[in-house]
Amino acid sequence: MIEHAAKPEWVDAERWLTTTVVKPGPEHERALRSAVERGMPAIEVQPTAGKLLSLLVRISGARRVLEVGTLAGYSSVWMAQALPDGGHLDTLEYLPEHAEVARENFAAAGLTERVTVHVGAALTTLPRLEGPYDLVFIDADKQNDAAYLEWAVRLGRPGTVVVLDNAVWEGIMLDPRRDEENGPGIVEALELLGGPLFDATVIQTAGSKGWDGFALAVVK
Ligand code: SAH
Ligand code: DHB
Ligand code: MG
Repeated sequence: MIEHAAKPEWVDAERWLTTTVVKPGPEHERALRSAVERGMPAIEVQPTAGKLLSLLVRISGARRVLEVGTLAGYSSVWMAQALPDGGHLDTLEYLPEHAEVARENFAAAGLTERVTVHVGAALTTLPRLEGPYDLVFIDADKQNDAAYLEWAVRLGRPGTVVVLDNAVWEGIMLDPRRDEENGPGIVEALELLGGPLFDATVIQTAGSKGWDGFALAVVK
């Protein structure tokens, strides 16, 4: 594994930006708190990124959103809240105990009707879904990032927005062997994003989760 080291001033700046600009609600705080209380890893997206996901849902006019990797539902709450009436989020989670916490958070946020949690390995549940999705957020096991991107194409349409979390991973592309578990999968996904199927960029971020970033793409 790779060390995700955050400089104190990155964390302080993120906190200031979160309070002053992002302004999360009690339902976001609840999702964060529940993850800590239930002993889940603190690997949800930063508040600034959660807000970005919600803005992307709105800007793209997405009605059907697919998420790979639910955890406690923090990023799901950001996206589901941004959906129009009649919109829906399908979120895929391997661990039943994570799915359970996420469902509680969706209920507390009044989002039960708008979100379906599909429990199981995503590569097993993805073939059961029907497209087209308007926006796909990928944030699960990095080994399968490239496979999830291929599913995003299969379940998407030209113009589908794709966001891939953890696309920089402390600069892993400079030497993927620094993280034998996750490095090769992340770099393979980046190469796929640079190929003919997508129009893409990668934004680097520094914050509470260290030096990382996300890829933003559309399906061609
Ligand atoms: N998107 C969430 C964070 C997800 S963390 C947020 O920002 O709030 C990654 C999640 O992916 C974990 O809950 C993990 O259990 C799940 N996961 C790991 N491998 C998976 C797989 N093969 N299929 C589905 N989910 C998986
Ligand atoms: C990890 C996973 C993530 O999705 C993330 O955003 C940060 C860290 C991890 O597995 O360490
Ligand atoms: Mg992530």
